[in-house]
Amino acid sequence: HSNKEEASMFICDLIINRINAFKPNQNKKFVLCLPTGSTPLLVYKELAERCKQGKISFEHVITINLDEYAGLEPDHEQSYYHFMEESFFSKALSELTAPFELVDIPLNQFHLLPGSPIPPLNESHEDSCSTYESLITSLGGINLSFCGIGENGHIAFNEPGSSFNFRTRLVKLDEETRKVNARFFYDKSHVPTHALTMGIGTIMAAQEIIVLAIDSKKSEAVRNALEGGINHLCPASVLQLHETVIFVTDEEASQDLK
Ligand code: F6R
Repeated sequence: HSNKEEASMFICDLIINRINAFKPNQNKKFVLCLPTGSTPLLVYKELAERCKQGKISFEHVITINLDEYAGLEPDHEQSYYHFMEESFFSKALSELTAPFELVDIPLNQFHLLPGSPIPPLNESHEDSCSTYESLITSLGGINLSFCGIGENGHIAFNEPGSSFNFRTRLVKLDEETRKVNARFFYDKSHVPTHALTMGIGTIMAAQEIIVLAIDSKKSEAVRNALEGGINHLCPASVLQLHETVIFVTDEEASQDLK
């Protein structure tokens, strides 16, 4: 697409079409996996707008986020829980009284990995990760996984070198990722050193995957993911092995493709 607005509209339309085409029943709701960061912001804004216009409802959708910083409480302003609350869920959280209305997802139908232990269970990070995997299984798997891509080719927080078989787990963030994400924090020293992330194996088990890449900063990662060899040094290159993947880019992010 020629710009990020068009690329984001394409993703938004695709998500709406897939949800509207799905027939939920007692045993299976549509399970949508979601990213955070700068990339999905326009998509979330547009989904909220279409929801307001009655073109889409999240009543029968279950969302499950890709990752969360380890050590951040849900109300920390840089936690991904807080990000989702601000950009997507707040209508559910505020029980319809928010000044700005977002999507109509019921309160118990969105899930994020807990960055810090939640009372009364106080699970360890390892236990939270295996609970998350069991949750995905009990939901009948992921129908559509919407992902961003890191400048270093990561998907979710699966940094270069991650095994393609890994499931949800606690990871150490690459220094490059902490540097890139320092723009959201006071400075790099405040960026958590670890995160909880869905594994590549978990993401690859989704029925369909869509990746949005915007800006020239992503062009090298996009080229390595699509035209490089399948290599765990560019985790997103594993997507070449999935049967149903769509990469959506603006012109700048695809400028290095042949
Ligand atoms: C975030 C996530 C990450 C980001 C990636 C790009 O939930 O899974 O993989 O998608 O780091 O981040 P932005 O969009 O900020 O460039």
